[in-house]
Amino acid sequence: MHSPLRPYKGISPTIGEASYIDPSALLVGDIELGDHTSIWPLVAARGDVNHIKIGDRSNVQDGTVLHVTRKTTTKPAGHPLLIGNDVTIGHKAMLHGCNVGDRVLVGMGAIILDGAIVGSDVIIGAGCLVPPGKKLESGFLYIGSPAKQARPLNDNERAFLLTSAENYVRLKNDYLSNAENN
Ligand SMILES: CC(C)(COP(=O)(O)OP(=O)(O)OC[C@H]1O[C@@H](n2cnc3c(N)ncnc32)[C@H](O)[C@@H]1OP(=O)(O)O)[C@@H](O)C(=O)NCCC(=O)NCCS
Repeated sequence: MHSPLRPYKGISPTIGEASYIDPSALLVGDIELGDHTSIWPLVAARGDVNHIKIGDRSNVQDGTVLHVTRKTTTKPAGHPLLIGNDVTIGHKAMLHGCNVGDRVLVGMGAIILDGAIVGSDVIIGAGCLVPPGKKLESGFLYIGSPAKQARPLNDNERAFLLTSAENYVRLKNDYLSNAENN
């Protein structure tokens, strides 16, 4: 089995304490993973032309693609990809050069483009497309292509954002202990 971590130009991904990376995932280059974070099967994350940072207790589910945009003279920072704490990223999402706050749920198959800024405590519906540079306000549900603000999150949904992250911390703990026992 190949290693899921690959250096690029001498920089290798750094992985926080008790984080889990499925052996079929691939993380390349300048990527910083926080503690208790999980990366599930077939995730491709490429920190080559800019950096990727994922916070603590976040999960990136199966088949998701994470990438960044290079720095240029007109855009000296380019577009790194910054993902906060307790974030759930559903299956087969695509996050490119955007900034995601804490306690966000990115629905399955959602696409978030360069320069988009997602506040904290946000749900992005399955299949949603967030256009370049769009700002999603904290505390709201967004759906559709392009993304539109649907309504404020209710208390149950806000609580669920943390529960979802906690569920994935428990699940990755199971996977880590299974790996140790095999
Ligand atoms: C959007 C979502 C949160 C549901 O929100 P909701 O307010 O409870 O929505 P409802 O199910 O009551 O549906 C309300 C309307 O939104 C539509 N709708 C539901 N989900 C939608 C979505 N993802 N995109 C566009 N429209 C959606 C429904 O068809 C319905 O339309 P109608 O009023 O014309 O019939 C949910 O459908 C969703 O997309 N969750 C993401 C789940 C996920 O991907 N999790 C990650 C993996 S674990």
